[in-house]
Amino acid sequence: MAPLTRSEQALAEAQAPEESTLDSWYMNNDDAQDQRSQRRKTPNEPAAIAKLRELGVLSWKLDADNHENDPKLEAIRKARGYSYQDIITVSPDKLPGYEDKLKIFFEEHIHTDEEIRYVLEGSGFFDVRDAQDKWIRVDCQKGDMIVLPEGIYHRFTLDEGNYIKAMRLFVGEPVWTALPRPQESHKSRDNYLQHFGAS
Ligand SMILES: [Fe+2]
Repeated sequence: MAPLTRSEQALAEAQAPEESTLDSWYMNNDDAQDQRSQRRKTPNEPAAIAKLRELGVLSWKLDADNHENDPKLEAIRKARGYSYQDIITVSPDKLPGYEDKLKIFFEEHIHTDEEIRYVLEGSGFFDVRDAQDKWIRVDCQKGDMIVLPEGIYHRFTLDEGNYIKAMRLFVGEPVWTALPRPQESHKSRDNYLQHFGAS
């Protein structure tokens, strides 16, 4: 593959925290509430995008209507080696057993690779654990691309809109296996803690 040009490098750079429009917040502990509700604390406790970057979470705002011909997306794919991509739709009429699947997505887990999602339509929440093991909820809307690092504890849920169409990207042949918590002795968890763990 040809090396990246300067402009490709600049395009592929994750969005600076101060430019990000992603909304994220610390979740309340009320697990009786529907997982699809916002689960904010009262008062709301925002989580800074800089905090997400510390945890290894990257994000970009892209032009979802132009995803088939977007030099920025191409630059990101090239820079990060994302050779695989597909598009999935999750909604009650597109996914058989929707309510059960929703519960499975919401079980805390890690992967042995990055999890990369680019929201083309609809929206959903990615929840990630911070270094103190608190949940941060990241509201991913149309145009948001997010990368969760290998080994981070996380989960996903749709929101009350019950609809998301997202591109999944991957380096090489995709592996979607979710390894449920605990995974404290797993190599990927170890890698994660070495890079992003609290010192
Ligand atoms: Fe996952």
